[in-house]
Amino acid sequence: MSDTPQVIWHSQSVSRVEREKRNGHRSCVLWFTGLSGSGKSTIANLVDHQLFDRGARSYLLDGDNVRHGLCAGPNLLAPVYGEEFAQRFGLGFGQQDREENIRRVGAVTELLANAGMICLTAFVSPYRKDRDLVRHWVEKQNGKGSFIEIYVNTPLEVCMARDPKGLYQQAIEGKIINFTGISDPYEAPDAPDLELKSAETPAEQCASQVLSHLIAQGILS
Ligand code: ADX
Repeated sequence: MSDTPQVIWHSQSVSRVEREKRNGHRSCVLWFTGLSGSGKSTIANLVDHQLFDRGARSYLLDGDNVRHGLCAGPNLLAPVYGEEFAQRFGLGFGQQDREENIRRVGAVTELLANAGMICLTAFVSPYRKDRDLVRHWVEKQNGKGSFIEIYVNTPLEVCMARDPKGLYQQAIEGKIINFTGISDPYEAPDAPDLELKSAETPAEQCASQVLSHLIAQGILS
């Protein structure tokens, strides 16, 4: 017999469609993926700001920030919760830890979209199957087209030259392991809904491309 109690999904009294009607736009997940330093956060922040200025209900989940709380690493958890807890629930950058990172965040995006919001995310999310699984859950709950994968396609050499946090240098020196693009893979989307080339296109223009896509898809009017 399983020791896990069965949990049953309840539908809630206010529907997503009612919330969307009140918000004046459809809900969706804007999933930015790309290498560290590719420009995901910068572009996602610009889009979030433009949505805010239009009165849309939006919120950005950013990898570096989420890894301070919901997906904190063992080093942040240990002082408060102890070593055993930190090892069990803290997330690093191995493949399974990234899978759990994206699973947790994906579940949050599913809820925010169901709350009628436009949820933006900026995670490296290097594994195709992890991103595809989030698409599956989000679209199952919120309808086809509610998950928009945005590939921030910036060449590795450009990201390495930018190296805003000095992490590529440390990865090359072997001080950081499992670093995406250096000692860990990045699986580019096969058919992203939108592809942004941030090495050739200013961030503001990339953000405008995202807004145009939302209008073309009927998410914003
Ligand atoms: S993900 O792969 O699990 O999606 P996430 O987006 O949460 O990664 O975190 C990536 C951020 O953590 C990067 O922007 C970078 O600042 C930092 N980082 C630290 N170690 C690594 C690593 N080994 N690989 C990639 N990013 C890392």
